Amino acid sequence: MRIVRSVAAMQRLARSWQRAGVRVGLVPTMGYLHAGHISLVHRARALVGRRGQVVVSIYVNPTQFGPKEDLSRYPRDLARDARLCREAGVDVIFAPDDQQMYPRGEEGGFSTFVAEETLSRGMEGKSRPTHFRGVTTVGAKLFNIVQPELAVFGAKDFQQAAIVKRMVRDLNFPLKIVVAPIQREADGLAMSSRNKYLIGDLRAQALVLSRTLAKARAAVRKASQPLSAARLKAELKRFIERAPAARVDYVEFFEPDTLVPVPNVTRGAQMALAVFIGKTRLIDNAHL
Ligand code: PAJ
Repeated sequence: MRIVRSVAAMQRLARSWQRAGVRVGLVPTMGYLHAGHISLVHRARALVGRRGQVVVSIYVNPTQFGPKEDLSRYPRDLARDARLCREAGVDVIFAPDDQQMYPRGEEGGFSTFVAEETLSRGMEGKSRPTHFRGVTTVGAKLFNIVQPELAVFGAKDFQQAAIVKRMVRDLNFPLKIVVAPIQREADGLAMSSRNKYLIGDLRAQALVLSRTLAKARAAVRKASQPLSAARLKAELKRFIERAPAARVDYVEFFEPDTLVPVPNVTRGAQMALAVFIGKTRLIDNAHL
């Protein structure tokens, strides 16, 4: 397994693969890898085959963090990530630094961004106004640098996957976006690098996210007619905030392809929520 640090070296490698007709799959991450990330690696491998190249990018992308968010304390451990990647059969880790990705200097620095303007408006985009512009910008850069035929994203970040798919379609990036299922801990908590912040009893309180999804699914499946989204939201918010450290950011019901909110909830709707557990903001989602 190789660790590539510079954009130029990664692009040279990508060009050599292109010329040799080697299949390339990319898994973009911010590192501090867990079994959720590794499941994406396995999916990429299954898709490109043994002769293909699986690239994992590890880059904590500053442009997708708001000024009051956790950029500086976001967990990082490249040695551990490299070990996990090697065990998972990754071929190349692309781990650039900020100077590589967003150069500053005599030429005037970085000033071009890619923004999706419809799917980005609600949910995460509403709570984190510049977040998706950062995600699409770094995504576009990674696709241009690695030139994969496919990139694997997790359903954990449902809105992100939808936005990246839309960007790829709208801007004709020559690759396929594959979305892989959410990996959970045995008790239901969706795996996340940010779970590291859940110390003491916050870890147990964080279960309220997956339990809320289960509660909503049970309600929808039991109901003989569509449920009012507004009423269901209010009920679920009360349920969530029974956990003393929990504060709801949003609970949303929407159409999975368009992300348009639905006024009445039936089976097949998508549900997403963001909840602060203490200072840690967690997200989760499910198909109802
Ligand atoms: P990060 O949070 O590191 O996640 C990298 C990828 O892993 C994303 O596609 C995410 O949806 C997926 N993932 C995270 N937890 C998962 C879980 N429990 N099950 C399945 N997949 C999971 O998302 C980002 O980084 C960044 O926004 C990035 C796309 C890399 C752009 O900077």
